[in-house]
Amino acid sequence: MKYYFAPMEGITGYVFRNAFHEYFGPMDKYFTPFVSPTQNGCFTPKEYRDICPENNPIPGVVPQILANNAEYFVQTAKELRQMGYEEINLNLGCPSGTVVSKKKGAGFLSVPWQLDAFLEQIFEQVEGRISIKTRLGMEDPEEFEGLLEIFERYPVAELTIHPRIRTEYYKGTPHRDMFYRVAKRCRLPLCYNGDLWTCKDIDEVVKESKVEALMLGRGLLRHPGLLAEYAGKDWGGTGRVQEFSDRLFEDYTEVMGEHNAMFKMKELWLYLGTYFAASEKEIKPLKKAGDAKEMKQAIRRLLAKSETDRAGVELND
Ligand SMILES: Cc1cc2nc3c(=O)[nH]c(=O)nc-3n(C[C@H](O)[C@H](O)[C@H](O)COP(=O)(O)O)c2cc1C
Repeated sequence: MKYYFAPMEGITGYVFRNAFHEYFGPMDKYFTPFVSPTQNGCFTPKEYRDICPENNPIPGVVPQILANNAEYFVQTAKELRQMGYEEINLNLGCPSGTVVSKKKGAGFLSVPWQLDAFLEQIFEQVEGRISIKTRLGMEDPEEFEGLLEIFERYPVAELTIHPRIRTEYYKGTPHRDMFYRVAKRCRLPLCYNGDLWTCKDIDEVVKESKVEALMLGRGLLRHPGLLAEYAGKDWGGTGRVQEFSDRLFEDYTEVMGEHNAMFKMKELWLYLGTYFAASEKEIKPLKKAGDAKEMKQAIRRLLAKSETDRAGVELND
């Protein structure tokens, strides 16, 4: 089985990927949040910092492109190839209004004939592996029948499916049955993505689909040791989370200053808190922390409490 870290704009940038790799890795692949090429052809400074080889010493990094213009995609893919990336991922899943209205991301799925022409050009002109990350469609999961027919015309290196439609964003339950149906007959290498929160979720998808690759996002942000736990290994417990959190805060501070680093950490702890805090009340001091010292103290207390709560549960078992 292969395991991938999902791309998450604003969260899984290079600082995060590098720290995660050190404390909870390795993952087989780390997809970067998308770069969005324009007619200027070059990356924004922020995009460049995230994908440049100097900031990405870990193996398995796959840059993602959001585009519906074949020329821009090809140009960007060539630059990424020159940087040494062997696989490039195409984003056909982003549900955001501004992206979709430009017929990019999930919006591109609403114009299948244009998507087909785009794929024809990029697969003809780009050397190396192109993978795709897609939703089932814009408004109806059944749209995927036609879309799969298009994808299968090309040598897609791997097709990651997040089995929701655009209008569902990240809410509700993914259409896993649809994914299982596709997995039975799809000729392309497949990867499943969506709502893998627990070992039970992982087990179900693996058993029902026989898929050989899984991509996880929020499940790993919530519980970074989830995959080690699934493999029956010691994942390091709250001590490891403490080290990871400290290191991440230090690295963010170096890159963007303490104020912004605190913002980033609070954002991440919105996810971690759903696993390590027993209630909203426990996470409050962290949310309200006004400086680094207060924030670190709040995290330490929260993790210590989580440790004793868990020990209590084990004793009672
Ligand atoms: C804050 C946030 C940012 C995201 N950014 C991207 C992105 O840049 N590219 C992309 O393909 N998907 C993006 N996604 C979607 C995730 O990669 C993933 O498909 C989604 O979270 C479902 O998987 P999960 O349930 O394992 O988190 C983003 C999701 C969230 C919540």
